[in-house]
Amino acid sequence: MPKDTKNYEKYFLPPSLSDAKRRGREEIQVHYDFNIPEDMQSFGKDRYYLIQTYGCQMNEHDTETIMGLLEQMGYKPTEDRRQADVILLNTCAVRENAEDKVFGELGHLKHLKAEKPSLVLGVCGCMSQEEAVVNRILQKHPFVDLIFGTHNIHRLPVLLREAFFSKEMVIEVWSKEGDIVENLPKKRQGIKAWVNIMYGCDKFCTYCIVPYTRGKERSRRPEDVLAEVRDLARQGFQEIMLLGQNVNAYGKDFEDIEYRFGDLMNDVSKIDIPRVRFTTSHPRDFDDHLIEVLAKKGNLVEQIHLPVQSGSNQILKKMSRKYTRELYLELVSKIKAAIPDVGLTTDIIVGFPGETEEDFQETLSLVQEVRFDSAFTFIYSPREGTPAADMADDVPIDVKKDRLYRLNDALAQLSKESNDRIIGQALEVLVEGESKNNPEVLAGRTRTNKLVHFKGPKELIGRTVPVNIVDAQTWYVKGEWVPAAAVK
Ligand code: SAH
Ligand code: SF4
Ligand code: F3S
Repeated sequence: MPKDTKNYEKYFLPPSLSDAKRRGREEIQVHYDFNIPEDMQSFGKDRYYLIQTYGCQMNEHDTETIMGLLEQMGYKPTEDRRQADVILLNTCAVRENAEDKVFGELGHLKHLKAEKPSLVLGVCGCMSQEEAVVNRILQKHPFVDLIFGTHNIHRLPVLLREAFFSKEMVIEVWSKEGDIVENLPKKRQGIKAWVNIMYGCDKFCTYCIVPYTRGKERSRRPEDVLAEVRDLARQGFQEIMLLGQNVNAYGKDFEDIEYRFGDLMNDVSKIDIPRVRFTTSHPRDFDDHLIEVLAKKGNLVEQIHLPVQSGSNQILKKMSRKYTRELYLELVSKIKAAIPDVGLTTDIIVGFPGETEEDFQETLSLVQEVRFDSAFTFIYSPREGTPAADMADDVPIDVKKDRLYRLNDALAQLSKESNDRIIGQALEVLVEGESKNNPEVLAGRTRTNKLVHFKGPKELIGRTVPVNIVDAQTWYVKGEWVPAAAVK
């Protein structure tokens, strides 16, 4: 029997939706013994890689891990597809249009693969965790060499070797995972760094694919998170973004210690790093202790991303968000009372099954009441395997688009008003780089994450400086650098 067939059997582990749905009680194992197999340590010498990332910040951070692994194997990055020996698509499954982009891209890459058969073409990320996607790739895109998932990124060195030597598609996707792998290399760039504090999601909002693609909620040990943040501070990073699908559930899974997200933020606030943010908060577990810790500010900035999804109780219930409009507004009032200058942002879905004009009006009125600084807004997209996919997707597409348009209009006005309110203030701005459209202008962010454009010397990049806000546009403000000004 040819060697390839043997490999094929060994590395044919496609995802299973029914396994991904299950939540067991098994203990979470943390592995500290990761290393790259010896024969793979220089496998990438004189070879190049290119990764295209489609998803959220969690996904982007996974790309940093993948880059770290590849570079430890000797691979170098390239932007040129023709130069690349490995191309990976790190995919997102959250909405249909994200998936369409990837299938479109596979169509283009087919030609490249035909021209350069030695190219290893891989698909990873959230789409790989979906049964239907893997079946479609097997049938329609058989030239793909490698599929791996979100739980076994650390297996990349081994899987890459198999993909390189095997003629068959190598598939290894773990559907049910409770483990955490520490000490993976990460390639970070710039002045901001992402840090995972937990993985997975157990909320199972009815529209959402994430609990299936990212597995069960599991928290990294506090000492591991804190050590990583301290190390990044030492390396000179200016801002840390703590990541989890639902950071307020942090620590719920610890059986030996009573230590939650508020405790973690409290400990992080003692580390000498200028700014700390986090995403994403679920309104449900946002407790008073956390508000108390955030109110002390320091390096914990006054900005909170608090997805509401809808302002209608009827829709929130069908989404299984497990809070009401009233509870959400009460939480917002508590936060505003403790942190009066807080910047709140959110996520909203329009056109969920059964959403009436009245329901949508409730969303609009909630948006006005909270006065969000900005929001990510989406048209509902049915996801196979989720409970909402079985509900009638009964809002016509024109109506969905019209609601999205009206919602975005309201949010743009609120953003402008919120920007107007800071005119005349001297604010701390972390300078990120040159503005995209004008290299003469610097771009930075306030603590509440507002984009600021101002003129100043390039040496300010990477530093936090006082800027006087002089003018407001819809999505950014203009300022003047005043080195001597007192910062509010
Ligand atoms: N864990 C985060 C969000 C993850 S997904 C949270 O709970 O807030 C990011 C956003 O995508 C969600 O907040 C939601 O607004 C949107 N989203 C998720 N599934 C969607 C779907 N099926 N259709 C449209 N938008 C969706
Ligand atoms: Fe999806 Fe809800 Fe989990 Fe967020 S909390 S990832 S929206 S299931
Ligand atoms: Fe993120 Fe998309 Fe997965 S939003 S968790 S990459 S489905």
